[in-house]
Amino acid sequence: MSSTDSITIAIASDHAGVEMKAALRALLEGQGRTVLDLGTDGAASVDYPDFADAVAAALADGRATLGVLICGTGIGISIAANRHRHVRAALCHSSTDARLSRQHNNANVLVLGARTTGIEVAKDCVAAFFATDFEGGRHAARVAKFS
Ligand code: RB5
Repeated sequence: MSSTDSITIAIASDHAGVEMKAALRALLEGQGRTVLDLGTDGAASVDYPDFADAVAAALADGRATLGVLICGTGIGISIAANRHRHVRAALCHSSTDARLSRQHNNANVLVLGARTTGIEVAKDCVAAFFATDFEGGRHAARVAKFS
């Protein structure tokens, strides 16, 4: 049980991440979570910053509390997401990354690379990210300095 259990999760990817997005959306919805899917929906080539911006907007206007972003490596979409001051996007390659990104950095967007991270590891990252709360304490002042 974590404070994320009843929130809405925004999810988006570029064309490289469509299959992983579908699998992770199904995983989250299977857990009874509410997912706001902001695309993309097919194999047609798209620009990953547009999808980072879409999740950032959903967090800003309250449609979602946390997000998941996916591109080929996760790098481009995390750079784009972190241009938004309210976004703390963490590119994760392990469940340890995902857990610590929540505990220490209060990450509000989990970023995954569909071409660099296998689906089972990605599922483990999702499980860890949404099961973990920010620890606060000594980390709070550091995170506050982000913005
Ligand atoms: C798309 O080909 C690819 O460049 C993109 O998914 C991502 O890996 C960029 O960082």
